[in-house]
Amino acid sequence: MKRPLKIGIAGLGTVGVGTVRMVQEHGASLSLSAGRDIKISAVSARDKKAERGIDLGSYKWLDNALDLATEPDVDVVVELIGGADGIAKELCQAAIANGKHVVTANKAMIAHHGTALAHACEAAGVSFAYEAAVAGGIPIIKSLREGLAGNRISRVYGILNGTCNYILSAMATDGREFDDVLKECQQLGYAEADPSFDIDGIDAAHKLAILASVAFGSELNFDAVHIEGIRHVSLMDMQFADELGYRIKLLGIASVSENGLEQRVHPCMVPTTSPISHVSGSLNAVVADGDFAETIVHEGPGAGAGPTASAVIADVLDIARGLKVPTFRVPAKDLQQMTPVAMSKHRGAYYVRLMLVDKPGVFADIASALKDHEVSMESVLQRTRDPGEAVPVVMTLHETEEEGVLGALAEIEAIDAVVEQPRMIRIENL
Ligand code: HSE
Repeated sequence: MKRPLKIGIAGLGTVGVGTVRMVQEHGASLSLSAGRDIKISAVSARDKKAERGIDLGSYKWLDNALDLATEPDVDVVVELIGGADGIAKELCQAAIANGKHVVTANKAMIAHHGTALAHACEAAGVSFAYEAAVAGGIPIIKSLREGLAGNRISRVYGILNGTCNYILSAMATDGREFDDVLKECQQLGYAEADPSFDIDGIDAAHKLAILASVAFGSELNFDAVHIEGIRHVSLMDMQFADELGYRIKLLGIASVSENGLEQRVHPCMVPTTSPISHVSGSLNAVVADGDFAETIVHEGPGAGAGPTASAVIADVLDIARGLKVPTFRVPAKDLQQMTPVAMSKHRGAYYVRLMLVDKPGVFADIASALKDHEVSMESVLQRTRDPGEAVPVVMTLHETEEEGVLGALAEIEAIDAVVEQPRMIRIENL
């Protein structure tokens, strides 16, 4: 048998502890799979004394995580600290510079610095592996980079944030309020340290930028992702969605066309007949459209100790076996710079909800605003009428360019009888 592969783990939070546990519990089968032993030789975390429910006694403790980068008894640095910059990035850069492989779950760091890190590790001849960064236990990076490597992928999309999916599912099925469900997600450990990363769509956008790079062989371009979160999704919109045959999901969607690369994260209405509308609770799902393989659907737990540790260890095993693959589908030097497609140029169908005082002529004004921007209405719904009270009016719009919809909504908002900012949710007929 070859000499053991020695790993050093930085960060002993939920995922770090799960990773230690997996090595401890599955040591024998990991050795068989890898053809060599996988040994944890060193660990580092902020608080040595914290109670973690695992035995760390046989590992070297390092107070400073950066020391893992120069620790002679470490072949692979497993970075589970998190954060786009700061010590996590410093550690990864130093580890690569010292000829050590890196395994990380750090989606923010990859979304912002992935291309540079890929160049660095490929120049140093080491691996930079990040299966745990996207969709937890779903082996989506391996699937896109290796399993579907022969395909031209035209679109990759999915439910990439468990916290948002949990909140939206609980609102839709139990009629619960947003804040109440968010608190539960924090208690369950799904939500990020700063939950605004989840509910404002940033976490999903980090993951989408990574998926786009692996799917299309393009340079990471997080800044080009259009991002909207779920703060404005209301129970009223959920009820209308249900009535129209849709469910509301926060999706990340990346697609390529002759215009370039479109990357967007926002709430979507998806038909209840679509499989993705049934992915509920904290589950994630990722769908890839390949030219030969056609549509491939992946679904599973996207967060938590066990699923994320499973992804970390899969990367460690690949390194132990000597697998060498480009970081993002193609070698870093061959990654394409794709033209970003602006959201204003997006074409799609739309749900719009207005709150208006129902009085003669108001519909004529709305119709005139739609006409001015060449937007065509598909259906309209007005369920109740309390004289003098604002009532909800829901319209669905035929496929059109977003610029026109936004122009029409700005005009509609200025109508006297329209008493709130119009709500718009994109319809995705997936
Ligand atoms: N906060 C993330 C989520 C955890 O809710 O999906 C996994 O990245």
